[in-house]
Amino acid sequence: MLVKNQGVVVITGASTGIGEACALLLDKLGFCVFAGVRKDVDAQKLQQKASPRLIPIFLDITDADSIAFAVETIKNTVGDEILGLVNNAGIAVPGPLELLPIAEFQQQIQVNLIGQLAVTQAFLGLLRQGRGRIVNMGSVSGRSAAPFLGAYNASKFALEALTDVMRMELRPWGISVSIIEPGAISTPIWEKSFTQADKAKDNLSPSAQDLYGAAMTAVRKKVGVIASKSISSDVVAEAVVHALTAKKPKTRYLVGQDAKLAVVLKYLLPDRLYDRVILYSMGL
Ligand SMILES: NC(=O)c1ccc[n+]([C@@H]2O[C@H](COP(=O)([O-])OP(=O)(O)OC[C@H]3O[C@@H](n4cnc5c(N)ncnc54)[C@H](OP(=O)(O)O)[C@@H]3O)[C@@H](O)[C@H]2O)c1
Repeated sequence: MLVKNQGVVVITGASTGIGEACALLLDKLGFCVFAGVRKDVDAQKLQQKASPRLIPIFLDITDADSIAFAVETIKNTVGDEILGLVNNAGIAVPGPLELLPIAEFQQQIQVNLIGQLAVTQAFLGLLRQGRGRIVNMGSVSGRSAAPFLGAYNASKFALEALTDVMRMELRPWGISVSIIEPGAISTPIWEKSFTQADKAKDNLSPSAQDLYGAAMTAVRKKVGVIASKSISSDVVAEAVVHALTAKKPKTRYLVGQDAKLAVVLKYLLPDRLYDRVILYSMGL
């Protein structure tokens, strides 16, 4: 059996970005981290950066067998209890809702919402034993919607609801549930989403191009500027550590000035005025 030091934490989507930052920080703080990856090369890369305590684990959150295998592997390695589950894995599917292929919408919900629930269900036995905590990686996009981000917004708004319900349902067992709501964070998710948006725009039919082409170009440009001002994923990792370790974890962690400002404006302004602020900020 492994030495668990500060306790065992499982993180999904730890190959890059926020998940990687969380895995490395928790490892540095002495936790036994099981870091979810999907490729050998990512497992090796993480191991080179971390202490020997960190264990990469193959985990595709859309695959029930992969989830079950990860749970069994962790159980066999550290026993029946874990201290934390960080549901971080996610994708961002861009595009106007009118044109978005339903299969892409489904993929967005499958990864960012159904996957999170499936992983949580599978680990709840171990979490209950360890009186553990759940940290869901939401987004300010789960509080404030924007054009051409509808699928992502839908997934993150729904994750807010799931988090609230889990928090209440799991209260009898002392399992704390928090959601992290970052603004723009510097990670590969932006480039991945830009590639997908550029491809979608190139493939627009002439009529769709007439309807949305100019707006898609304007938004793509503006989102590029937003991405260039994004902040380090280390700030998000610190919020995750707080949610996992603080005596009184918060239910919600807004991370970044942009996220805080958006939520305040959304609260203060009437809907149509807020729409105009968002449209302007997206170059529309
Ligand atoms: N970056 C931001 O500005 C920002 C802001 C707010 C919230 N977030 C949220 O933060 C989380 C992490 O995103 P990130 O920005 O760090 O992006 P990222 O660097 O692209 O990381 C996404 C991670 O999710 C993994 N993943 C994707 N599909 C998966 C699946 N089916 N099963 C398991 N893992 C899967 C990826 O693994 P592979 O490498 O194997 O694809 C990768 O490890 C997401 O939930 C995102 O919505 C990001």
